[in-house]
Amino acid sequence: MKCLVTGGAGFIGSHLADRLIGDGHQVVVIDNLSTGKRENLNPKAKFYKIDVRDSKISQIFKKERSELVFHLASQIDVRKSVENSVEDAKINILGSLNVIQNFISINRQNPHKSTSKFIFASTGGAIYGEANVIPTPEGYPEFPLSPYSIAKLTIEKYLNYYHKVFGLSYISLRLANIYGPRQNSKGEAGVVAIFCDEMLSKKQPIINGSGWQTRDFVFVGDVVEANILALKKNKIGIFNIGTAKETNVNTIFKKLKELTGSKCKEIHGPALLGEQKRSCLNFLKAKKELGWKPKYSLDKGLNKTMEWFRNKSDFRKI
Ligand SMILES: NC(=O)c1ccc[n+]([C@@H]2O[C@H](COP(=O)([O-])OP(=O)(O)OC[C@H]3O[C@@H](n4cnc5c(N)ncnc54)[C@H](O)[C@@H]3O)[C@@H](O)[C@H]2O)c1
Repeated sequence: MKCLVTGGAGFIGSHLADRLIGDGHQVVVIDNLSTGKRENLNPKAKFYKIDVRDSKISQIFKKERSELVFHLASQIDVRKSVENSVEDAKINILGSLNVIQNFISINRQNPHKSTSKFIFASTGGAIYGEANVIPTPEGYPEFPLSPYSIAKLTIEKYLNYYHKVFGLSYISLRLANIYGPRQNSKGEAGVVAIFCDEMLSKKQPIINGSGWQTRDFVFVGDVVEANILALKKNKIGIFNIGTAKETNVNTIFKKLKELTGSKCKEIHGPALLGEQKRSCLNFLKAKKELGWKPKYSLDKGLNKTMEWFRNKSDFRKI
């Protein structure tokens, strides 16, 4: 099948493109390389350097006629979304709508319409807000507490609308906190990548606040698998992708310190304003309907991630 991956030069998107190519699919990548890197691109993927907001993406959709779209291109920095909600909405809402509309318009004339599908990288870490049911299931009321997560929820509402009115087949994967090889250690997101990089380069990491805030850490290989199952299974709707296990940031710090052999101290800085205290996802729906469950334990995933940051060799393998 021909798959279009937006954000395919980024952390998760590039691993997904690798897997799709490995499975024998043709892959087309759209990415503006704002945070993505050329070196992440699989050499067998056809690459278009373009912004998802650009009206010219319609020409790519008309030319490529992909049956499947994995939409991962996004402004992913929550703090930037707070500082400039308009810019965030332009990328994460209007850019996403540009991708969805173009996909719908080519698929109206697509003879393989029945196999076409739109798979969206949403967030589960941020969409429920400070939930009092942990692990949190999909039916829990959404209470997004940042422009970033409001945009993700907005796109889910649009996808549901396009499904009901235009018959769009879609799956929205509400991803927890993803970590693994190729994650950008310079960004705001990704405490594992940031700590790995700092510990290995003998810099002192700073833990935000008490470090008792919890997250649900999922290895990138498990997220790739969730996308593949979303493609294969005849299901529609929203699925949490998490491990149902809470891990606090202090534990991540200690585990990585041991793995890297770092001599750094445990130093705490000020807490981030409005930072979520707990986040952990119930994945029973994905298990039952997609047949997905996380395969990587935290220790195994952290080990693989740290090894990658240590030598950055064996680039395409996870
Ligand atoms: N990493 C996580 O923990 C996590 C958690 C939940 C959801 N997600 C979602 O998964 C997706 C991938 O995230 P990631 O962690 O791989 O981040 P990433 O920054 O590595 O990947 C995003 C990619 O999108 C590209 N991009 C950004 N804006 C673009 C634009 N306007 N036009 C075209 N391309 C653009 C970037 O260059 C980059 O390659 C995102 O949609 C993100 O919101 C990630």
